[in-house]
Amino acid sequence: MDMKKKSEDFIDQVLSEMTLREKFGQLTQLETVRAEQEEELKEKVRRGEVGSILMSVGATAGNTPQGDINTDFYNELQKIAVEESPHGIPLLFGRDVIHGHRTVYPIPLAMAASFDFDLIRNCYREIAEEAANDSVHWSFAPMLDLSRDPRWGRIIEGYGEDPFVGSQMAKAVVEGLQGNALDEVGSVLACAKHFVGYGAAEGGRDYCHAEISDYGLYNYYLPAFREAIRAGALTVMSSFNDLNGEPISASRYYLTEILRDYLGFNGFVVSDYAAVHQLIRNGVAKDDREATELALNAGVDMDMWDSCYINEGERAVREGRISVETVDRAVKKILRVKLAKGLFTSPYCEKKPIDYASHRESAKALAAKSAVLLKNEGDVLPLNRSAKVLLVGEGATERRSLHGSWALDGKVDETPNFYEAMQEKLPINQLHYDKNCESNITDADVVVVALCEDHYSSGENASISHISITDYEKFILKRAKVLGKKLVGVFFYGRPIAMQGVAEYFDAILYAWHGGCEVARAAADLLFGDCLPCGRLPVTFPRRATHLPLYYNCYSSGHEVNSYYGECLPGCYRDSHASPYYPFGYGLSYSSIRYGSVLCDRAELSVSEIQAGKRFCVSVEVENVGMRDAEETVQLYICDKVAKISRPLRELKSFRKIFLKKGEAVAVSFELGINDLGYYNKKGEFTLEAGDFDVFIGENCLTKNKVTVSLK
Ligand code: BGC
Repeated sequence: MDMKKKSEDFIDQVLSEMTLREKFGQLTQLETVRAEQEEELKEKVRRGEVGSILMSVGATAGNTPQGDINTDFYNELQKIAVEESPHGIPLLFGRDVIHGHRTVYPIPLAMAASFDFDLIRNCYREIAEEAANDSVHWSFAPMLDLSRDPRWGRIIEGYGEDPFVGSQMAKAVVEGLQGNALDEVGSVLACAKHFVGYGAAEGGRDYCHAEISDYGLYNYYLPAFREAIRAGALTVMSSFNDLNGEPISASRYYLTEILRDYLGFNGFVVSDYAAVHQLIRNGVAKDDREATELALNAGVDMDMWDSCYINEGERAVREGRISVETVDRAVKKILRVKLAKGLFTSPYCEKKPIDYASHRESAKALAAKSAVLLKNEGDVLPLNRSAKVLLVGEGATERRSLHGSWALDGKVDETPNFYEAMQEKLPINQLHYDKNCESNITDADVVVVALCEDHYSSGENASISHISITDYEKFILKRAKVLGKKLVGVFFYGRPIAMQGVAEYFDAILYAWHGGCEVARAAADLLFGDCLPCGRLPVTFPRRATHLPLYYNCYSSGHEVNSYYGECLPGCYRDSHASPYYPFGYGLSYSSIRYGSVLCDRAELSVSEIQAGKRFCVSVEVENVGMRDAEETVQLYICDKVAKISRPLRELKSFRKIFLKKGEAVAVSFELGINDLGYYNKKGEFTLEAGDFDVFIGENCLTKNKVTVSLK
């Protein structure tokens, strides 16, 4: 008998023996409790009233220290489920392992800036290994919410504003977490979240209403989820927001018609934290019973935290509001995932030795590749080894915030701060730290200012309206400026900030993000040229927050005033110029890169050829004409010039990271085909139309280097 059939028979058999209450138990996720409530939780597990455990206490947004995970406790709970509960169904343990476990890697937005998705995949392999060793079966990552609003605190958990980057990220994280086989030791289930539109919350206000057109949904917000499903994600989390007036957790349209019927997802959906109960506040349910009915019928299979399903489900079935078939379908999906994860055969966590030192090396490598060199006037960087450095700013001694939000298991005392990292680079007589920049005489050659955003200022429920540096940091900057030395800013920030009125202070800026437990060392390496800066922005840095939303893959206006990305003067505001301060894809190296003209092997192709799978080749010569080696991210954008519906002025379709020695030139070529030229119409049908396409290749989205290809 084949395995699949055997599994289905097994599931049918178990299901036929379960009471309705036990079935709702499988659909229930409870959180870990404080010590005094442990016995009560064990009792519920024993009665078969729990299917999964959220391994944290309280909606902490990953910021409240929870202490080390007690593997013995989880093994004990599991033993009760396996040996004492009615059908011996193992529990599924889930945790917010978002960008690291004990080893903390850069926040996901920073990871995306590396454009190194192989490295990201490897890092998630390590993350999974560490988490699995601590009883975690299931991580609530990746977060795939496209966002164009840095006021939204959770922008740091995603990949920014581009669906192509989002798809690359989705694939890398899912493959990294899940490994070759889910039932192998060291693999962890991924959860694609939050489906859908959470990142489009109006005004960047967390949990708020989002409005997305069908055309926008198919082309911008769904691609990352499509890719996560293709990569094998078996769980999806429904989002807190309402979309176009439909609270997602009650929306059959989004959770069943779009997610399952259209995207082909066949795993299970878990609600977000208490989102079923919150349907009351959303104004679509009058009580928990109605909320249960709406959510389960919409397609939420597992209820996180609020116990609505276990408390109200049976009665809702008896009243005919939910069918037994619906309940059975949801239970089956969950049992299938438990089987796939191998929980029926290996339910317990057995600790294995882990090479944490090598994981820290990867975290450092990724932090270095994620950092973006935003400015380097007069080649002030890299710093000379013999330079005398004055280091200022309280960011230099910060540790916890370097981890960023959602770092439940990172060890702050194992995280070097930036002052320590600089001490590893310079002898004592060349480095002076003056936190508040109080001495106004200095013999330093350069002043390095460490700026650090508090980790509580980003992440969940941490939206802010003033996306800038703090008043204290401005004050320090002014003092530092008076010294008349070259000023280098190292930003340990989560979100992108509005750069007007900030960037001008500096000769050089390294945006190192909340880059994880090794970011301080990575930043110091970059400052001294011990590794090469190569990060590129996955999100626009605006001049002012009042220009938001501002994103590169925008549409053309019929009027010229607001031409591409506000690049045309006068801009679309009378009082300010609304072009980005730093555009999508932007980032410098320590060298200068010259792009040759874009060449295409065919100037004309037919729609039918492309539809039949024909690909064509575009290429460009890229030369390092500067004085140092460089790692360049060659970016390819498309503009579909005439279509039935306005198409974006630029869309990233491919990129290539290349290493160029000083003076070296290489030809970089790309093959393009139907997936690069087509788009989804508002019915969600993939469409390819005849017409001209501009193909841009260059250093960021503002490149004008292009060739035009005609599709007849
Ligand atoms: C967040 C989710 C998270 C869940 C569990 C919610 O508040 O929105 O992203 O996975 O809590 O901690």
